[in-house]
Amino acid sequence: MAAQFRFIPPAGTPVRFADVAGTIGASLAGKEMVEQFKADLCARVGVRHCELVSTGRAAMTLALLALKEVDGGKRNEVIIPSYTCFSVPSSVVKAGLQVRVADVDPETLDFAPEQLERLDGNRVLAVIATNLYGLPNDMERWRRLTKDRGVYLIDDAAQCLGGSIAGRPSGTWGDIGLYSFDKGKNVTTIDGGALVTNSDRLATAISEKAKTLQNNTVSESVSHLVKLLVYAAFLHPRRYWIPNALPFLGLGATVYRTDYPLARYDRWMAPLGRRLFARLNTIAAQRRAAAERYGKRLPWGAKLRPIVPRAGSVPAYLRFPVLVAPECRAKVLDALHREGIGATASYPSAINDIPQLRELLQPDDRHLPGGRDLAKRILTLPTHVYVTETDIDRIVTLIADVLGEGPVAVYP
Ligand SMILES: Cc1ncc(COP(=O)(O)O)c(C=O)c1O
Repeated sequence: MAAQFRFIPPAGTPVRFADVAGTIGASLAGKEMVEQFKADLCARVGVRHCELVSTGRAAMTLALLALKEVDGGKRNEVIIPSYTCFSVPSSVVKAGLQVRVADVDPETLDFAPEQLERLDGNRVLAVIATNLYGLPNDMERWRRLTKDRGVYLIDDAAQCLGGSIAGRPSGTWGDIGLYSFDKGKNVTTIDGGALVTNSDRLATAISEKAKTLQNNTVSESVSHLVKLLVYAAFLHPRRYWIPNALPFLGLGATVYRTDYPLARYDRWMAPLGRRLFARLNTIAAQRRAAAERYGKRLPWGAKLRPIVPRAGSVPAYLRFPVLVAPECRAKVLDALHREGIGATASYPSAINDIPQLRELLQPDDRHLPGGRDLAKRILTLPTHVYVTETDIDRIVTLIADVLGEGPVAVYP
């Protein structure tokens, strides 16, 4: 019964009231922090250029428009994974480009290698790797492969800020990298997206496009501050059950849409970004500790498979993804929800099954099995700081009970 009044959100990063007060105070004092926030990001991941815009999806659209322009409009195909955030294909469509889907390997969430090996550099403008749930993709390989074919690479680290692979930060492996500061991310400013690059030419193309974007109105900035207050107040498990019980809020719903605005970053939010950014190491370390505990304690077996991070990677673990036998997943989710745990079935379908997109896809891209398989089996568990060790042990027991398998202390 107690669980009814305690619900652990599936994702999110706690914002302290000092952060809210500091953000409002800095905005009222008219302090300009956008440039400092960009400088923080550049220094942290070791890149030369950064541009901030209204959302991650707006950033992706801008990146693709910049690549299209620099390429002289010669190539129009963009390769994306068959299972990822729906904002990725919507950005490609919004940029007036053709979505090409490459299948994923459900065991790694990354591209199945043979899918990218047959990349045609005459038609493909860019490949987007999406480092899902904060697990870095095999970026060294994708970088080499795209370079060989003269194709641009976008390292979409919307979910992977704070992660790295082969010692290099996620988001910096591509010609362009992307981060999101949406509500479910490691660093949130309610909305926001960043593009990073070391290429002067691409940086110029991006910043020229960014200059044409509409500014935020004061009422939009005020609305961000109100959302921030609500976010700070209701993310805590003792209060999250309230918004969670209001279906019209549509929390966590995945919707495919291309009608989002391309706007500038709301400068009122930059002080918050800087504050959370300063805590990124702690935020990421805490998530990794949660992931380690899940890894050691979950009852791995035929009905529950792990997604093992790539060798040499340091995941950001925005969430902890696992693969559950399809016939058990709804039961596991139900059991966790009843006990107040925000586990999710993540994106509702493979990219090749998004109804609005199917007609736009080439016939070869419509029947890829990997993303479909993943859509039936994936389950994500929360990793943020509000998930205690006791919560993790409770989650483990609940899952073991449903699957009928006792916990085993082995990480395969
Ligand atoms: C992989 C990926 N790319 C891009 C985006 C778009 O970011 P935003 O939600 O800030 O528009 C997201 C959003 O979650 C994402 O997960």
